[in-house]
Amino acid sequence: MRTLTRITQLHQHVGESVWIGSWLNGKRSSGKIQFLQLRDGTGYIQGVVVKSEITESVWEAAKSLTQESSLYVKGTVREEPRSASGYELTVEDIEIIQVTQDYPITPKEHGVDYLMDRRHLWLRAPKQRAILVIRAEIIRAIQAFFDERGFTLVDPPILTPSSCEGTTNLFHTKYFDEDAYLTQSGQLYMEAAAMALGKVYSFGPTFRAEKSKTRRHLIEFWMIEPEMAFVDHEENLRVQEQFISYVVQSVVANCRAELETIGRDISKLESIQAPFPRITYDEAVRVLQEQGQEIAWGEDFGAPHETLIAQSYDRPVFITHYPASFKAFYMKPDPARPEVVLCADMIAPEGYGEIIGGSQRIDDPQLLAERFSEHELSTEAYQWYLDLRQYGTVPHSGFGLGLERTVAWICGLDHVRETIAFPRMLYRLYP
Ligand code: 4AD
Ligand code: MG
Repeated sequence: MRTLTRITQLHQHVGESVWIGSWLNGKRSSGKIQFLQLRDGTGYIQGVVVKSEITESVWEAAKSLTQESSLYVKGTVREEPRSASGYELTVEDIEIIQVTQDYPITPKEHGVDYLMDRRHLWLRAPKQRAILVIRAEIIRAIQAFFDERGFTLVDPPILTPSSCEGTTNLFHTKYFDEDAYLTQSGQLYMEAAAMALGKVYSFGPTFRAEKSKTRRHLIEFWMIEPEMAFVDHEENLRVQEQFISYVVQSVVANCRAELETIGRDISKLESIQAPFPRITYDEAVRVLQEQGQEIAWGEDFGAPHETLIAQSYDRPVFITHYPASFKAFYMKPDPARPEVVLCADMIAPEGYGEIIGGSQRIDDPQLLAERFSEHELSTEAYQWYLDLRQYGTVPHSGFGLGLERTVAWICGLDHVRETIAFPRMLYRLYP
């Protein structure tokens, strides 16, 4: 193959003649000049084809190009302040790879179902590409944050014999002769890992067979789960606010062009700086009641409640100390008030809802045993977890960040379906 230059590298070749590999995004023509909108995945550039400067066959090749045709283009790189990239290619030669017929996604508006059925092609749209670039930057920043702070990456299993977050939304499968479930959360395993390595985090796919068709729910989503030995509820919250500020500011610093492509209001992201406000569940219930919401102490919040609470803040808010009655079995009760637990949900601003759920964990073996019987959990299936409280139990805390909700918020998207290349949603397993 000939040596190609990537579009993002063209600025290093001003005045030189180079070959690029590309697809045609679009084309304009004004008599003796054709303007080719070219993309190669790394960027976009306009190719200018001037009839008087090239052979007849190159001119005809340019004329035959349709949307998403693939081609090699040879041209001289010129600075062009009027173009978005700052550069332009004066075309000298064209070698067509394929002239595409009837590309199904045209510049006109298509419905979301239509686009979702063609997600494998829709990914090529500038906005979709920008979202995936931002997602990758978010992942890089997440790993950098924990790696720089002495956390060790540990991978919990995907196939598990028991549940972590309740039994109602488990994906069941056979594991030879045994029953198995796709993991809902690696947390319990991360607690074991924290007892071995001190500070750990996991980063992997999790699965919930939730029959909820909302803009915040995926069936398969990626979760980041840090777990820290000798860390209490307070310190857990401090890590979370530092973490989220770091990730958002990394995106602001490194993805400005992509944020502009998707039309995100960057000033809203710039204000995401620790510390974050905190409000207890009790206060939140009072605020909601004052706003006329029908909610009583002891009831869980729904998405509209979270949105109402978040409206008062320009950065994420922690709702802390929820009633033990509807929270997970492993959360540590507040010693001063055992009917609430040392937990927090982090609610993103602008109506994006809960992005983090976390808590201090029960470290007392006896209390954990009581919770097991209240929740009718099999001590056999979880014996290994109970062992952790038998052999050198220590105070510890952790949390789980949902990647797709975080991407939706940072990108300002209406729906999580655009935050991952191939979303798994209720009734959608294709493509
Ligand atoms: O609040 P959740 O259920 O917490 C846990 O799973 C804990 N075991 C985490 C831990 O402490 N290690 O889920 C954590 C986060 C939520 O805040 C949300 O961002 C995301 O995971 N999440 C989902 N994201 C997309 N689709 C779904 N169906 C989700 N369910 C949870
Ligand atoms: Mg939660």
